Formats: sequence, structure tokens, C-alpha cells
Amino acid sequence: MELVKTMKEQIEALNQKYSNATAEELLEGFLGDYGNRIALSSSLGLEDQVLTHMVTSINKSVKIFTLDTGRLFPETYDLIHRTNHKYGIRMSVYFPDSEKVENMVNTRGINLFFESIENRKLCCNIRKLGPLKRAFEGLEVWICGLRRDQSVTRHDMQRIEWDEANGLIKLNPLIDWSEADILEFIKTHGIPYNPLHDKGFPSIGCQPCTRAIFAGEDIRAGRWYWENPDTKECGLHKR
Ligand code: ADX
Ligand code: SF4
Repeated sequence: MELVKTMKEQIEALNQKYSNATAEELLEGFLGDYGNRIALSSSLGLEDQVLTHMVTSINKSVKIFTLDTGRLFPETYDLIHRTNHKYGIRMSVYFPDSEKVENMVNTRGINLFFESIENRKLCCNIRKLGPLKRAFEGLEVWICGLRRDQSVTRHDMQRIEWDEANGLIKLNPLIDWSEADILEFIKTHGIPYNPLHDKGFPSIGCQPCTRAIFAGEDIRAGRWYWENPDTKECGLHKR
């Protein structure tokens, strides 16, 4: 009788298989194995720009998508355009449900997220998680730019994980990379990046929920800067 491997065992086997592989080799293996059932989600951050460069070097027709919350920085929109142009691609842009956004801001206020964590989570839910669900249709693997160094909430993440909340394999090719590794790769390959990174914004999300950081502050200190470090996840990366 054939033994059916549990998902946990399959993920362990995959982590084992790719334990010595570089980020590029890991991507090459997965892009080859999963065809159009794999996609990269990009917030246009430094890590995602590195991944976009790697993925398009392997195959330009791989799906790369971004969630346009409607509250992004103008510089982020420009970067979508510049990245598409540089790599000869057209990133898929997902918008939130307009009725839900209208209902939310008309009942709770245009800047509701400053009022309470509940409001902030509702906004992230409607503007990010709803569209993310649609972006996942037909996918089996989700490529992300998460790194362990980024936050206390990410220290025990693996390169390859089972994302229970979304029923997908989550691939974090840059999980072990340091910030210096990322900057070096960007520089070496002339990868387009958000000019805000040079103005004190190491991590960029929505404009109202992101500020520049002060010298010595944590790299995600500017994200939802009014909240405690352990609540600072938008729900995209539930574990
Ligand atoms: S967040 O949860 O705090 O917003 P972060 O900005 O660190 O996440 O990004 C981590 C990863 O989540 C990115 O590398 C990307 O894969 C995904 N991601 C975050 N925001 C978006 C977005 N707006 N569109 C697409 N993917 C995103
Ligand atoms: Fe809303 Fe802020 Fe979340 Fe963006 S980061 S979806 S503006 S709460």
C-alpha cells in the first residue's frame, strides 16, 4: 500500500530537497514544476523587486501580482510602471471591492485605521485580503519576499511553508537574506526601486500607515507606527 505523505511531511521533504539551493535555483525548480499554478505577490518593496528580477530572468510569463489598496504612495505607482517597462511585463493589479470600501469609509471615516486596531484590521481586510483571495484563484504556490530579519513575527518562518489559512504552499526564497544582501543585489543588477527607500523608508506599505524611521529604529518601525510590534501584520501572513 502506498503511503500518502501528510502535507507536513511533503513540506519537510521540499525544504530538505532545496536546503542547499540558492534563491534562483529554488525559484527555477518551483517555476518549472508548477507552471501557471505559481505566482509572485509584489508590494514593490526591495525584496519583491529582487524576486521580480529573478523570476522574469527565468520566465517572463509567470504571474506577478500586486494589491492596489487605493492608498499607496505615488512613488509606488510609478515603480509599478517602471518595473513593467524594464522587464517587459504587465503586473496584474488587484483592486478591492468598491462597494465594501465605500461602505467602510462612509460609516467609519476615510482614515478609520487611526481610530482602533479593529478599524485598521478591517481596512487591511477589505483593501488587501479580499483582493488577495481573488488573486489566489487557481494557484498552488505563493511566492513572497518575507525575511526572518524583518520582524519578531517572522523569526521562525521557513523557506517553504504550508499556508494553512490560504491552502497554498508559501515560498520565501529570500528568508535567510540580510538587508545588506538585498541592497547589494539591487545595486549589482541595476534593479529599479522605490526612491522612498533613500529617504528613510526601509519598509513601505500604504501611505497613511507608513512613516520614515529614525536612526537606530527597527526596519518595520515605520509600519503602523502607532501600534505595538506584535500586532503589526496586516493579516496577509497569518500563521
Ligand atoms: S505586510 O504584511 O507588512 O504588508 P510586507 O510589506 O512586509 O507585508 O511584505 C511581505 C510580503 O507580502 C511581500 O514580499 C509580498 O510578497 C507580500 N505583499 C505585501 N503587500 C503586498 C501588496 N500590496 N501586494 C502584493 N503583495 C504584497
Ligand atoms: Fe488600510 Fe492602512 Fe491596511 Fe492600507 S495598511 S489597507 S490603508 S489599514
